[in-house]
Amino acid sequence: MKDSQPKTIYLKDYQVPDYLVDTTKLHFELEPKATLVKSRLSIRRNPQAGAGLPPLVLDGVELELLSVAVDGVPLSAEDYQVLPEGLSIPVSKAEFLLEIQNRINPEDNTSLEGLYLSNDMYCTQCEAEGFRKITFYPDRPDVMSKFTTTIVAPMDHPVLLSNGNEIERGRSEDGRQFVTWEDPFAKPAYLFALVAGDLEQVEDSFTTASGRNVKLQIFTEAKNIGKCDHAMRSLKNAMRWDEEVYGREYDLDIFMVVAVDHFNMGAMENKGLNIFNSACVLASPETATDTAFQRIESIVGHEYFHNWSGNRVTCRDWFQLSLKEGFTVFRDAEFSADLNSRAVKRIEDVSLLRTTQFAEDAGPMAHPIRPDSYIEISNFYTLTIYEKGAEVVRMIHTLLGAEGFRKGSDLYFERHDGCAVTCEDFVKAMEDANQVDLQQFRRWYSQAGTPVLDVTDSFDQSEGIYRLTIRQSCLPSPGQTEKLPFHIPVRVGLLGNDGTDLALNEQGDTEIVLQLKETEQVFEFSGLAEKPLPSLLRGFSAPVKVRYNYSNEQLLFLMRKDADTFNRWDASQRLALNALCDLQAAFRKGEALKVQPSLINAYREVLQDTDLDPALVAEILQLPSEQFVAEESVAVDAEAIIVAREFVRKAIAVELFAEFRKRYLELNLSKPYSPNAIDIAQRRLKNTCLSYMCVTETEEALELAKSQFEVAANMTDSAAALAVIINYGEDRLAEDSISQFYQRWESDTQVVELWLSQQSCSPKRGTLENIIALMQHPAFEMKNPNKVRSVIGGFANRNFKQFHKSDGSGFEFVADQVLALDKLNPQIAARLVIPITRWKKYSGDLAEKMRGALQRVSDSGELSKDLFEVVSKSLL
Ligand code: BES
Ligand code: ZN
Repeated sequence: MKDSQPKTIYLKDYQVPDYLVDTTKLHFELEPKATLVKSRLSIRRNPQAGAGLPPLVLDGVELELLSVAVDGVPLSAEDYQVLPEGLSIPVSKAEFLLEIQNRINPEDNTSLEGLYLSNDMYCTQCEAEGFRKITFYPDRPDVMSKFTTTIVAPMDHPVLLSNGNEIERGRSEDGRQFVTWEDPFAKPAYLFALVAGDLEQVEDSFTTASGRNVKLQIFTEAKNIGKCDHAMRSLKNAMRWDEEVYGREYDLDIFMVVAVDHFNMGAMENKGLNIFNSACVLASPETATDTAFQRIESIVGHEYFHNWSGNRVTCRDWFQLSLKEGFTVFRDAEFSADLNSRAVKRIEDVSLLRTTQFAEDAGPMAHPIRPDSYIEISNFYTLTIYEKGAEVVRMIHTLLGAEGFRKGSDLYFERHDGCAVTCEDFVKAMEDANQVDLQQFRRWYSQAGTPVLDVTDSFDQSEGIYRLTIRQSCLPSPGQTEKLPFHIPVRVGLLGNDGTDLALNEQGDTEIVLQLKETEQVFEFSGLAEKPLPSLLRGFSAPVKVRYNYSNEQLLFLMRKDADTFNRWDASQRLALNALCDLQAAFRKGEALKVQPSLINAYREVLQDTDLDPALVAEILQLPSEQFVAEESVAVDAEAIIVAREFVRKAIAVELFAEFRKRYLELNLSKPYSPNAIDIAQRRLKNTCLSYMCVTETEEALELAKSQFEVAANMTDSAAALAVIINYGEDRLAEDSISQFYQRWESDTQVVELWLSQQSCSPKRGTLENIIALMQHPAFEMKNPNKVRSVIGGFANRNFKQFHKSDGSGFEFVADQVLALDKLNPQIAARLVIPITRWKKYSGDLAEKMRGALQRVSDSGELSKDLFEVVSKSLL
């Protein structure tokens, strides 16, 4: 344990900064182990901070301080105070120039925060509090400054980049080269970036709506130069989309993107110089799956959209993180929905939310989308801030309509351009632009937990009135025992006996948004001839759980007839969940397992429906994941979940084998690869069929997989075939295919990451011994987060069966790796520990074993702040 417990930071303690930094001039002399940083800051007393001249306190971590000067006069060590994580300098004037020199060590920086080296390339990551690892600075987002950056580097690092426009370049006397960049927009330090390396570039341009020409550049190592096209296309699409949908133009003459192999997150929106995890920007048909193509499009969009929602208007403090992330995830989701299949995108996002975010919201780290406190802000880049945050913005969009929402976003950007603001400012702009009252709605920002809606109904035949009664509740979460009712938009339709939507009002609307505000509310629909079947929460209009006592027959009916595509899918999921629930009960009682023929028939019908979007068919055929079933359980019985799910999957595969084969063969077309929505949908369904066929482990099925593996001309088909061979093929075949694939792709980092994760996610081969062996493979690297995520993260998060082995070996393994990683990269360690923090959710022995592994992490001596926060909160 540390001598002093890490300190908790509270939102209620927020104070404006004592000093502002009008301009920041940085000078870097790059050396792997000893980079020299010189900074010149023009500092000014913040007029809003009151009277007097308190000391200037700067943040600084792991820095070697060389010198400090005020207005050109060097200070001696007695003149200032060195703090454990910063510097305190006495102040005698309201305005002065502060000059600091310090040294840092990029080569030994394995935390990947601040300035570090990745494959010989220098790069930075400053969000959230990484700038303090570069130099002493008021490292908080409400201090915005105009940056000028000079980079000096040896000639073997010819490309030298920073934010804004290049204003000067040349040679220094000693043969090194320098470039100076100037960013005309004031920004917080977290948006600062620097890159230096031996890089190639792909170049293009974009003409904005107002006719300005913008240079677009993507930089990578030479070997990846052929993998930039898709990202470039996505970038141009994103720029056009933000102009069309939000009226937002790009504001600099140049926009740069750099790919790096070592990166803690997916990508970062630094002003004019986005830095991307290679896996989230590089793609070619031969090496990237459809999923990767779609992920790249949405992340490129996401980071680009931050230029307005995050950079031009930024966050006042890190409690407001969802202000930029929730809003920007909503923006990127709409971008993807507009460019691809809207229904499928919604299903994917809701699946993620309901499994992972709901679990987080019910677990030990539950927090509102605007948290009240944190120990380490890096731990709050969560699904709650991002995905639930996006749902909250979506609800505002639903309540105001597209036009009203646009009025609100226009006002927000206009009012707060160039400022660091709060979630409150966002809601206020939405209110003011539309003259609506969102007072109660604001509770979504302050209350954690997933609300539950209990819905009952009745029909008065004589009056023709149908009544829906909705009761809302929300369980306590850490620090919040009582919850007040939320303002919830519930989109509904009512199905008549023939399955068509009934008119719900005099205007003839067949779908309306109910405004649920009370704990219990009754909604009446009149003029109905028969009792309708409700279709509730269409399009998932709010991040809540709905309970309505549908019979299986009613679910089958909705699955066939609901006019809302999302709810058709949702009915299929509920139906499957019911089946899985019954099977778990039967398994525990030792009874024979069986699947209702009606379920199989429903799947048959969907599979044969060639009018339905194939991607949707694939989504419906996809059984709820083990994690989702676990999330829906009160006390998780991992073994029962696995047995039940495998049983249903096998039953479907056996019963519908002929139908799967037919559709597989129809869809198995050889045509040139294109990542468009239609082709992606066809491949998705085709590979779903292949996977089901292979569940039977018959020779016929595996022959199809083998030949697909051999002839596939794109990574989607190749990887899908490899996956089923690994999971269902005989050992010999699987091993041969694994090594054949590696030999072909060993020089391609992104493909190797996929190869690693397929093995660690395999319920069959992903046993612990295999994973431990994989960690000795030359392709594995503990200092590379992608590799760690592929192998260890894949095992803990996506290999439900092996991770939950009854002897607890999976949990102990994760505990060991977390401890090893904490010494290298605390952010990654704190993420990787999450799968063993949900022990309270499990029943019996497994809960004890999981808790034991977590306790061991806690007891093992000095933990990083990051890991300490997650572990200590989870043991309470
Ligand atoms: N600002 C974040 C990246 C970030 C967060 C870097 C925290 C370092 C610390 C970026 O905009 C982001 O949100 N990226 C996401 C991808 C996005 C599509 C949701 C990511 O990196 O996962
Ligand atoms: Zn973001």
